[in-house]
Amino acid sequence: MKRNKISIIGAGQIGGVLAQLIALRQLGDVVLYDIIEDMPQGKALDIVEASRVDGFDVSIRGTNDYKDIQGSDLVIVTAGLPRKPGMSRDDLLVTNAKIMQTVAENVKKYCPGSISIIISNPLDAMVTLFQKITGFPHNKVIGQAGVLDSSRFATFISWELGVSVKDVNALVLGGHGDTMVPIVRYANVNGIPVMELLEKKYKDKAKAEEVMKAMVERTKMAGGEVVKLLKTGSAFYSPASSSIAMAEAIIFDEKRVLPVCAFINGEFNVSGYYVGVPAVIGANGVESIIEFSLNAEEKALLENSVSAVKSLVADMERLGF
Ligand code: APR
Repeated sequence: MKRNKISIIGAGQIGGVLAQLIALRQLGDVVLYDIIEDMPQGKALDIVEASRVDGFDVSIRGTNDYKDIQGSDLVIVTAGLPRKPGMSRDDLLVTNAKIMQTVAENVKKYCPGSISIIISNPLDAMVTLFQKITGFPHNKVIGQAGVLDSSRFATFISWELGVSVKDVNALVLGGHGDTMVPIVRYANVNGIPVMELLEKKYKDKAKAEEVMKAMVERTKMAGGEVVKLLKTGSAFYSPASSSIAMAEAIIFDEKRVLPVCAFINGEFNVSGYYVGVPAVIGANGVESIIEFSLNAEEKALLENSVSAVKSLVADMERLGF
């Protein structure tokens, strides 16, 4: 049996953490590509020189030559500029679309048959563009956003309730922007509704709702909160970890139910767009999309988020991509 070959396009902050996580978990051999000369080679060397200490035995190779990604089973795309303070993800559209064009052309050329996870922002547009250029089946091109947004929501809930984050289930749907939709009604701690626990804590329904609203808002702005603190660059540890969860679901054919940016055709009343929805992730990428009932308010919020994705994609198309 051959080892998995995993290529990471973009060896910046996220790319570097991804390569290290793949090595630590021995998910496969890694090719780390970047346009900056020597940098991916340097990062690869740095990570691999810890192999004796960490006890992993995979190859990690840095490169500036797309030929080296040939035949990859999995490609993770992080190429593109990150946000600066005050910027929205959408402000990155033109710059990152140009980068994504070249990346997609090369992945198409060298890795037909691969599964791709896209992380670059603005996420929903970048996934759409990557799939359009490669022509890969929709189920094999997946965007990472929902795993992280949901993890952020779960983290805030766990802090608020003083319970382990491991027992919190929280789901965020929609586009990976300010309109994303944290689903409050289904958030639970090992099956117990979070709203019920908040009402118990505050003995006041209105106060519980106010606290939840603040967590929802913080979740929606969580990426920006990190950008503001870092001052240079955007979140990188958590996007890398979230993509690893998706990669493992694919590599080990786990059939995990993860919120991902997937192409939907009819589910949730949306057709022909990449949007964040829960999906079964396994060896074939997105194996199915899980539709569930939303109330009128949730439907309206999701519709609003889908409209934001549609207008972002329309902007991108107007710009000639
Ligand atoms: N091909 C390959 N890599 C490229 C290209 C290109 N055409 N253009 C730029 N890059 C590389 C940069 O050289 C840089 O090393 O992409 C890398 C991006 O790394 P960072 O600037 O550190 O950004 P990072 O924090 O990793 O985020 C990458 O993911 O979450 C999103 O918004 C974020 O779009 C950003 C992307």
